[in-house]
Amino acid sequence: MSIDVHQAVGQFVSRFGKEPAIIARAPGRVNVIGEHTDYNHGFVLPMAIEQETLLLANPRADQVFHAYAGNFDREVQTDLTQRARNAEEPWIDYIVGVADELAKLGKPLHGADVLILGDVPIGAGLSSSASLEMAALVLFEKLGGFHIEGPAGPQLGQRVENQFLGLNSGIMDQFIVRMGRKNHVLFLDCRSHAYELVPAALPNAAFVIADTAVSRGLTGSKYNERVAECREAVAAMVKRLGHTGTHLRDFTLEDLEASRSEMADVIYRRARHIITENARTQQACDALRAGDAAALGTLMNASDASLRDDYEVTCPELDAMAAVAQSIEGCYGSRMTGAGFGGCTVSLVAKGRIATFTEQLLAGYHAHTGLNGRAFVSTPADGAGLLALA
Ligand code: GLA
Repeated sequence: MSIDVHQAVGQFVSRFGKEPAIIARAPGRVNVIGEHTDYNHGFVLPMAIEQETLLLANPRADQVFHAYAGNFDREVQTDLTQRARNAEEPWIDYIVGVADELAKLGKPLHGADVLILGDVPIGAGLSSSASLEMAALVLFEKLGGFHIEGPAGPQLGQRVENQFLGLNSGIMDQFIVRMGRKNHVLFLDCRSHAYELVPAALPNAAFVIADTAVSRGLTGSKYNERVAECREAVAAMVKRLGHTGTHLRDFTLEDLEASRSEMADVIYRRARHIITENARTQQACDALRAGDAAALGTLMNASDASLRDDYEVTCPELDAMAAVAQSIEGCYGSRMTGAGFGGCTVSLVAKGRIATFTEQLLAGYHAHTGLNGRAFVSTPADGAGLLALA
């Protein structure tokens, strides 16, 4: 937990006049490896982080959701029977979208007075939106007295993104934010949604997250463009090989080479990233199980190069941050993380070197870009849930 709950409760009392009966929380996430593979039915290896979103709430007798976003000093009152998108206050859409999906499942929706607080950096590729969605799901579950089991919770979150918000994103963010466990990394098969919580057994290394301070611009349109390019690669291989596969997960590098003349070079490179990234992610999970930080780091570096050169979702600042990190002693590996086009890198660093690594990383990044980045260490945190009230 990263937010001071005592202070948060005090803020709730001064806003709504009494103590909250419910505190729902959900973490952000960082993806160790397996980038842009989820919507290709591939593999991912994310972990929940200590930064989180808190929803402090009291039930109301009506169906009004009265939310105050403490971080931005914004307030919305919305009728849960309507569930329309809000162009002026788009942050409430993540909550209303969850309510809408629950209504489709026939679940009861109760109004509440809610204070939202969070310290997952926004627009940094650490899933502040999935964090808000999954915290909202926990709150609606508590208010309505029901529970959505297992992968159905994250699946509901993905429908919010795909249907309510129009972003063709995969299942990774909601899955890890909902299902994460302290000191574990999640290995997820994004086709079957079978998953394994793998102990983060790297006694001598830690994950350092570094924010480029470049907010992810154009992510939505570029993201949907990548989704379409992957579909194009599948269509070309199906045409050439008579293959029955539906997603890049189903194809090998040999299939891709055999179909190369059927597709533009850019489509070939997109597919090459996905196919090689799926292999790297499975190998990375084995390296983690074996406690082999050097092997994991090498795979992270290869992932970064592939995202930069083949998938083209980095930007000069992410490239500078990763290159500086990779050159520092004690760094096993470093890569961009999340959707890309800005946001954060994740580096695996020897424990005894973290302070010097962070210092050299931020100084080197500043020297290359003139920007002030920010770095922090996070151990794997628990997924979404209720906080016990004192
Ligand atoms: C965003 C999406 C995820 C995933 C990543 C890239 O975070 O929400 O579904 O595709 O980008 O790996």
